[in-house]
Amino acid sequence: KNIAVFASGSGSNFQAILDAVQRGELEANISLLVCDKPGAYVTERANEAGIPAFVYCVKDYPSKADYEVEITSLLKSNKVDLIVLAGYMRLIGPTLLKEYEGRIVNIHPSLLPAFPGKDAIGQALAAKANWSGVTIHFVDEGMDTGPIIVQERVRIATEDTKESLQRKIQVSEHKLYPEILQMLLTRGEVEQDEKTRAY
Ligand code: GRF
Repeated sequence: KNIAVFASGSGSNFQAILDAVQRGELEANISLLVCDKPGAYVTERANEAGIPAFVYCVKDYPSKADYEVEITSLLKSNKVDLIVLAGYMRLIGPTLLKEYEGRIVNIHPSLLPAFPGKDAIGQALAAKANWSGVTIHFVDEGMDTGPIIVQERVRIATEDTKESLQRKIQVSEHKLYPEILQMLLTRGEVEQDEKTRAY
């Protein structure tokens, strides 16, 4: 199966997915990376691995729909089966959704529906929550609102800072995302006992 990763930032999840493919744990072909931020570190990771990186700026297009038309035709010509959002800081619009609904997944650093949107880790700390975690979900037109596939809890210690909590959440993300992608791609579903896990 062919996957396209969409990312805007450092790409540590992109790297974890790539490493899992290279270890043979994730049986997928990463056809390409789509990035909406020129200079994002994730594009260097793709170049290093020889994965084609396509950088598109929404402001170079007359509308977001035109931007997504261009991306959709790229995905179609590469026969992409699944779109994997990994720190893509943009809502998916109707143009892409129409073609790929049910075949777009996202990872978010909280236990949705708690703390959606930007800075989920800062939001969890500000709320003095004892737990946060990671959610992998299908994407719909809302912000972090689509059907939940799996969640993993991460304990917040009183001494946690944004950096330390982010590190814990990343450990969880980097393990969980490749595992769940493998289940989705090979079985089309996720095992029941994978659906909520806590550490
Ligand atoms: C991750 O925390 C992910 O959950 C969120 O954006 C972050 C991306 O980090 N959607 P990275 O670019 O993969 O390091």
